[in-house]
Amino acid sequence: MNEPKRYLVTSALPYANGPLHIGHLAGAYLSADIFVRYLRLMGKDVVYIGGSDEHGAAITIRAKKEGITPREIIDKYHTLFEDTFRRIGISYDKYHRTSEPIHHETSQEFFRKLYDKGEFVEQTTEQYFDESAKQFLADRYIIGTCPKCNHTEAYGDQCENCGSTLSPTDLIEPRSTLSGNKPVLKTTTHWYLPLDKYEAWLREWVETGVVDGEKQHEPNAWKNHVLGQCKSWLDGGLQPRAMTRDLSWGVDVPQEIPGAEGKKLYVWMDAPIGYISSTKQWAADNGKDWKPYWQDKDTALVHFIGKDNIVFHCLIFPAILKAAGDYILPVNVPANQFMNLEGRKISTSKNWAVWVHEYVQEFEGREDELRYNMIKNMPENRDSEFTWKGYQETNNNELVNNLGNFINRVLVLTNKYYGGVVPAIDQRQRINSSLAPEESASYKEELRVLYEGLRNVSVNIKKYEFRAALTALMEISSKGNQLLQFNEPWKRQKTEPEDVKVVMNLGVQIVAALSVACRPFLPFTSDKLRTMLNLPAIEEQGELQAILEKLEQNEAIVPEGHQIGKGAYLFERIKDDVIDAQIAKLEAANAANAGVEYEAVKDTIQFDDFSKLDLRTGKIIAAEKMKKAKKLLKLTVDLGFEERTVVSGIAEFFKPEDIIGQEIVLVANLAPRKLRGVESQGMILMAENEKGELGFVSPPKDWVTGFTVR
Ligand code: MF3
Ligand code: ZN
Repeated sequence: MNEPKRYLVTSALPYANGPLHIGHLAGAYLSADIFVRYLRLMGKDVVYIGGSDEHGAAITIRAKKEGITPREIIDKYHTLFEDTFRRIGISYDKYHRTSEPIHHETSQEFFRKLYDKGEFVEQTTEQYFDESAKQFLADRYIIGTCPKCNHTEAYGDQCENCGSTLSPTDLIEPRSTLSGNKPVLKTTTHWYLPLDKYEAWLREWVETGVVDGEKQHEPNAWKNHVLGQCKSWLDGGLQPRAMTRDLSWGVDVPQEIPGAEGKKLYVWMDAPIGYISSTKQWAADNGKDWKPYWQDKDTALVHFIGKDNIVFHCLIFPAILKAAGDYILPVNVPANQFMNLEGRKISTSKNWAVWVHEYVQEFEGREDELRYNMIKNMPENRDSEFTWKGYQETNNNELVNNLGNFINRVLVLTNKYYGGVVPAIDQRQRINSSLAPEESASYKEELRVLYEGLRNVSVNIKKYEFRAALTALMEISSKGNQLLQFNEPWKRQKTEPEDVKVVMNLGVQIVAALSVACRPFLPFTSDKLRTMLNLPAIEEQGELQAILEKLEQNEAIVPEGHQIGKGAYLFERIKDDVIDAQIAKLEAANAANAGVEYEAVKDTIQFDDFSKLDLRTGKIIAAEKMKKAKKLLKLTVDLGFEERTVVSGIAEFFKPEDIIGQEIVLVANLAPRKLRGVESQGMILMAENEKGELGFVSPPKDWVTGFTVR
């Protein structure tokens, strides 16, 4: 494949119906941002496009819930998104919105074109209709029981519990989200894209990269999980898919088309075209032509998305593009998988999330610290996990101890020894190599090591392997630290100043290289470093390419005699209390939202059934571990009128010595039972929470034991 002439890079347009969390960031935004910043640093022609997805049923439903208009919802979240992306350093060339007229026109044009070319199939089917709301119920307006997993809150298009794709008529006991009523079936006519007719070329394109006899991409450059999902859809057989909906909020079906009244474009016939309308707006704003970016075969189109969007970007949108004609298809769709949080799935509705807009407020000035941890744990090929402890560790062990420490030492020592002036050196001088303690190296050889390090970052970014690229970046810094460690300038400055000059000059070269190479990952750090080094601010116009060229010629990046600024700590240690507060916040939000799966209430019993139970207040007066039984404790319970031996399965939660004196409630008339050779004469009431932790149910403090609980 030839080197592309230009790149058009997109990130999924987030639905403007709720704030962004770290899962979004790790999915479609950081990866794209790394990629485009890198390309710009390599002097490539690249446009990075995004925007808010402001249609779709989720937005109307949210508006209804909050008693405001869809317009108010989208304005609120669009503004929040723009601000959040800017503050966390996602460097869009254009962040647009699908409610703009230029977008409505563009998506309608697409629809018209497909309609005129006879690509659509008109079909009349029965769909659910809410008689009280007088409205057809598309996708998310219907909930019901999932036929696959019995989850009772599955949506008409998808079950969020088991991930199955559904259609509304698959749901058991469907109900309308508008009224709660059972919907009725009513006929309606829609335009379908016959994906079944495109199946053959789509398969060939995905699997071999060839379309219309031309090789367009290298399938082994696509991620396995992306190819896997595509293949499983293709193997399952593609079905015609309706491109219109009976909705009140969205892009109108072009009104001159007979039967268009009241119909809107399906959100996936609208949102991805947002990439094109956003590009048009970018072009208009910048005096450019948008067409080559979408129509010239020399352009590489790359979509960054999360795995839930794979089918839309790898099959449906390509089908739309090709049906329209004149459009290129993506060379790659490097989707990421999901990021979990503290052992659980991120959930917006359960508020189990780290919200990016909150992070940038609470941790202002520490944007790169989050980016670093997210990239390090990016769910590139499998699901990954964010933990606050892990965040603290990557910050303290890697950013502070490795990168920050190296940079600080170079800047401080250069200032101390040479007043901040990059020392002139004798190139024949040999120093200890940064690669191994016992080897020596020349200045040029060390520049070569730096060059290789940068190449390694570069190669990995090009392969969409951002975790590996970050590791490669940190290796440059590790080697820098080794260079200092193996040469100990602080010991040898007095005795071997010529050697130390070489070491410190190299140190400055490495820091300068890092100020450029860290930028895709840590843009704020990059800016700070440029100031510290007293080097020009980075415009992302070929700066990395320029230093690679210099290094390849064995030339230094920063000339001798250049005056650098003062050093300062780039990163601060994060203390335990900061992390504990964040974990507490998560737990609290979670409890408040009661994101808990409650057990179903058991079958009704009569009062007589209940009154058969004899419950007594009591006190634990002795407790010991049971031999060979991890979960069991042998307890002696004082009931006032007698003592009982009770074997209780609470050893995982309580130590014997901690529960002496604990007041409890005992089921006093339970038939005795032998457990591990010990007769248990009753059962202690325990409450169990959603995590399976146990707690005592106890009478008011200091009550006399032995009384009845009714
Ligand atoms: N709004 C969709 C989501 O959050 C993504 C839309 S991507 C686009 O899942 F291609 F349609 F723009
Ligand atoms: Zn399900």
